[in-house]
Amino acid sequence: MSRLVPSILMLAALSIPSAAIAADVAAGKAKFMELCVSCHGEGGKGDGPTGKALAAAGQPAPRDFTVGDFKFDTDKDGKPGTDADLKNVVSKGALAFGGNAMMAPVVLNDTDMANVIAFIRSLKK
Ligand code: HEC
Repeated sequence: MSRLVPSILMLAALSIPSAAIAADVAAGKAKFMELCVSCHGEGGKGDGPTGKALAAAGQPAPRDFTVGDFKFDTDKDGKPGTDADLKNVVSKGALAFGGNAMMAPVVLNDTDMANVIAFIRSLKK
């Protein structure tokens, strides 16, 4: 027993850093403001200047992320808008899944991708 207690404490200590590197919504927001805001809008409602122009031109416009209702089921698991789907749409572009080419592929490293997705999720009201 006396040997078990320290190992449990060590496990607890080890789990702290992994929580700290979990997706960072603030960092995701910063990326979003840099790369996505022109179409998706500051609050993710799809009302950025380019997003509005697309809607006005009758093209598929960005979703309202505050509703959290997604369109693409990129891995055909019957559930649109899973993390894997959002990742696929962002990294491969919507055209790859029959959507608007204006949602062009965006290259993000795994950390930035996870952070941006966390930010999108945080917008849901
Ligand atoms: C030039 C405009 C533009 C930019 C920039 C842009 N998007 Fe999009 N995005 C769109 C459009 C338009 C759609 C809808 C495509 C469709 O429905 O055919 C879309 C769709 C999406 C979807 C799919 C949602 C669903 O319903 O399945 C996600 C996720 C997304 N964008 C994330 C991002 C992220 C993250 C960035 C920045 C890294 C970004 N977009 C940059 C225009 C843009």
